[in-house]
Amino acid sequence: MTKKNLEQIAWVTGAGRGIGRALVSHLVKDGWTVAISARTEKELNTLKAECPSGSVEVYPLDVTKVDATLEVLEKIEANLGSLRLVIFNAGTHVSMPVSAFSSSIFRSLMETNFMGVVNGLEAVIPLFTKRQSGHIAIMGSLAGYRGLPTASAYGASKAALINMCEALKPELEAVGVRLTLINPGFVETPLTAKNEFPMPFLIPVDEATNFIIKRLRNSPFEIAFPRQFVWLMKLLYHLPDRLFFSITRRFLKK
Ligand SMILES: NC(=O)c1ccc[n+]([C@@H]2O[C@H](COP(=O)([O-])OP(=O)(O)OC[C@H]3O[C@@H](n4cnc5c(N)ncnc54)[C@H](OP(=O)(O)O)[C@@H]3O)[C@@H](O)[C@H]2O)c1
Repeated sequence: MTKKNLEQIAWVTGAGRGIGRALVSHLVKDGWTVAISARTEKELNTLKAECPSGSVEVYPLDVTKVDATLEVLEKIEANLGSLRLVIFNAGTHVSMPVSAFSSSIFRSLMETNFMGVVNGLEAVIPLFTKRQSGHIAIMGSLAGYRGLPTASAYGASKAALINMCEALKPELEAVGVRLTLINPGFVETPLTAKNEFPMPFLIPVDEATNFIIKRLRNSPFEIAFPRQFVWLMKLLYHLPDRLFFSITRRFLKK
């Protein structure tokens, strides 16, 4: 494949299914060449086969592996050209009631959802800061705003991402690198299909990713949606603890 210009090369992790997969389809429609990563090569190859020839290239990766992450980035740049946009989307969710509290669930969610992004940033930041350009987008979640029952591990991993992005934003901006934090509510994907609890304001994946791609063009610090859920979560954030817990107590299974 021939190298393209700086404007058109993107890398999406967690691209095999769900939000990542739909993001890739939107990017390709917008004329981007996209490097796609996840662990399941078969899903990546299926996505590649569904996209116009030359628009998508497969780079299998487990984002928890720091050395492999740097190697993949180097391969992408050598094969496709300079990245303009990276979307660190790979992540997962495990519901964990207190009766099943487990350090191994915490470790595994932090490794994928948080350290997976950190590994990507360690690879990309030196390149982008040297070039004084580039756009980094990170998949957080509205679940990172406040602690919700059974989501102590997932919520903690996403809260860590939110805090990290707030800390990084001014420094990256000062060297010409854009940073966007994406905080969705519930989106219909294979991941949420497993959830047995009610999911308020659940939206189709295509609607979610269409919104993300449109908003990414303006490089805001945060893309949070759907609006009603964002306001609800922001309200919960500002409530005094007594009121907050009187609400979240109701989420407990009887
Ligand atoms: N769906 C929602 O309601 C929702 C809401 C808020 C935030 N999010 C966030 O959005 C992101 C995508 O969620 P989704 O719902 O699309 O999930 P999904 O349908 O389960 O897809 C997750 C993708 O991430 C990849 N992935 C998981 N672990 C990985 C690893 N260690 N290394 C590389 N790739 C890995 C998976 O592929 P492999 O398993 O093959 O590696 C898959 O391609 C996650 O960060 C999630 O937390 C989702």
